[in-house]
Amino acid sequence: MKIAIYPGTFDPITNGHLDIIARSSELFDEVIVALARNSQKSPLFTEPERLMLIERSLAECYPERTNIRADAFHGLLVEYAVAKGATAVVRGLRAMSDFEYEFQMALMNRKLAPALTTVFLMPHEEYTYLNSTIIRELARYGKDVTGFVPRAVSEALREKFEIKYH
Ligand code: COA
Repeated sequence: MKIAIYPGTFDPITNGHLDIIARSSELFDEVIVALARNSQKSPLFTEPERLMLIERSLAECYPERTNIRADAFHGLLVEYAVAKGATAVVRGLRAMSDFEYEFQMALMNRKLAPALTTVFLMPHEEYTYLNSTIIRELARYGKDVTGFVPRAVSEALREKFEIKYH
């Protein structure tokens, strides 16, 4: 049983993340989309909200894929991954700008847990410019983000910013 962890802040989850999740679910027996803490970030959505949005997005986009589940953890990623019996950590690489940070994290995680391998996957080209900050920013100024995120997320953003479109 090959288990992979796909960690992130997911503030909020986007179609780019979902693309990586779908690719991972074809490579591994089980994929755990794991909400993690990045000490550098102050998320817009609370942890329970982000977890609920991941669960709703998975149900909306991949109802037939039973090998994907969502979870949240505090503490070190490698400790969580080992506790779950995972052999891989999946990360998305969108552009060269992602590389240095990702390389540093992967090497540190390998130092901490040599048996855990970081696997980098490229999302579809149409998602290379996407990130959660851009989505939050568009929604804050009343732009419709349908097409970049699942419906559950666009509705949650609209509610968060109390935007009336018409
Ligand atoms: N499509 C669209 N956007 C994507 C994407 C994709 N496929 N992959 C990444 N992104 C975006 C995210 O939306 C996020 O955007 P934002 O910064 O505008 O919010 C950005 O790229 C960073 O991605 P994310 O996966 O959220 O990275 P992160 O820096 O928040 O996550 C953790 C890093 C949580 C995995 C890392 O901090 C961690 O492991 N924390 C646990 C503690 C730990 O072990 N620390 C030691 C690490 S060595």
